Amino acid sequence: MENKTKPNGTAKLEVKGKSYDLPVLSGTHGPDVIDIRRVYGETDHFTFDPGFTSTASCESQITFIDGDKGILLHRGYPIDQLAEKSTFPEVCHLILHGELPSAVELQDFCDEIKQHTLLHTQLDRFFDGFRRDSHPMAMLTGIVGGMASFYPGAMDSEDLEERRLGSIRLIAKMPTICARILKYNLGQRFVDPRNQYDYASNFMNMCFSVVAEDYEINPKLAKAMDRFFILHADHEQNASTSTVRLAASSGAHPFAAVAAGVACLWGPSHGGANEACLNMLHEIGTANRIPEFIEKAKDKDDPFRLMGFGHRVYKNYDPRAKVMRATAHEVLDELDLRDTPILKVAMELERIALEDEYFIEKKLYPNVDFYSGIILDALGFPKQMFTVLFALARTVGWVAQLNEMLDDPTQKIGRPRQIYTGHAMRDYVAIDKR
Ligand code: ACO
Repeated sequence: MENKTKPNGTAKLEVKGKSYDLPVLSGTHGPDVIDIRRVYGETDHFTFDPGFTSTASCESQITFIDGDKGILLHRGYPIDQLAEKSTFPEVCHLILHGELPSAVELQDFCDEIKQHTLLHTQLDRFFDGFRRDSHPMAMLTGIVGGMASFYPGAMDSEDLEERRLGSIRLIAKMPTICARILKYNLGQRFVDPRNQYDYASNFMNMCFSVVAEDYEINPKLAKAMDRFFILHADHEQNASTSTVRLAASSGAHPFAAVAAGVACLWGPSHGGANEACLNMLHEIGTANRIPEFIEKAKDKDDPFRLMGFGHRVYKNYDPRAKVMRATAHEVLDELDLRDTPILKVAMELERIALEDEYFIEKKLYPNVDFYSGIILDALGFPKQMFTVLFALARTVGWVAQLNEMLDDPTQKIGRPRQIYTGHAMRDYVAIDKR
């Protein structure tokens, strides 16, 4: 990756009476950054930023978010345009390679993915080691990490062809692994990939067809699946992506680094939120109970949070949530589920929260997870699978960010520092004197 930041003046830092000039750098969009790389060397002080709320950890050319304006761009293209006009494989090509593909490039890309959807038969035996009721994310973490053992060549990050192949393999095999996880939980036979289908339809077929009868792909539902994948494809330096970058910064196998990303995504503050949100909607049950839950969410002494609301970066309506909302309506119309109580609760909850002073003041808008759970539930996925589907879609983002990091000439092993507040140095005390 060619570094493209531009110098844009300096910032002054005064430490204990001594002044230091720090370079300020500009990117294409977004706030300028104060380059603090020399702060420790020159001032003998660290900077302190738990949760990285003020820290840009890398330069990236893949995704841009303006949280205040509710903008999300992949390689410059707005997410709503991609969701409306593009397809997931096309978005994968864009995120991985930087440009929308020509018709021929897209065909080649899709064909190559289809060449890599099958799993090594030995990998199928991993599943038997798990309990039938294992959480799908536990299985996914283990299987993606274990896949590293089948592709040792990908360890050589200098080998660009291996790296390219590793990226394609991950994107191609993830749907097969995720569908097998669902089948394993259900106690059903695995369904192999079929090359006549597109990416989303193939995944749905592997999830929902059974040996006893044909499964008919509903194009509207396959489109909704594809859109779910597009909306989750990348989201700049979120927790799981930063985890992938950090894990890979040591030179770890890329599949192991992606497994670390899967593990990070699992949590309810990140990818697990759509499952938690649907649980919450079911718990609320009927619209008349909404005020009770709103009050709980506002109560400082109650740890309860309204799932599907709020975002570290978006302090405006999450642009993905807008598309997800429309898609939820399309799916429920198609399946004749519009009058389902859960949708009524969701609509009413959204309306009340958007008018409530607490949520307005704290800029807590519905996030992408608020509607995605409703869609996935209607498509027939068990709640425990929701985060797995997110991981499937996010794989392209993880891989693209990992590759970008490896290509960055300024790349170093990620190694944050700390402010130590433990015991001061003291002498060892013999056991009989304690
Ligand atoms: N319900 C009620 N209050 C909330 C909520 C919520 N969902 N979210 C934030 N707040 C309040 C906090 O209590 C805090 O109040 P305070 O300033 O009085 O202490 C304030 O808003 C700021 O919250 P933080 O936790 O500091 O904000 P942060 O940026 O760290 O958190 C997060 C973002 C984790 C997403 C949070 O909004 C949350 O927990 N939401 C619910 C879970 C969820 O939907 N996560 C999905 C995120 S999207 C994704 O991963 C794809």
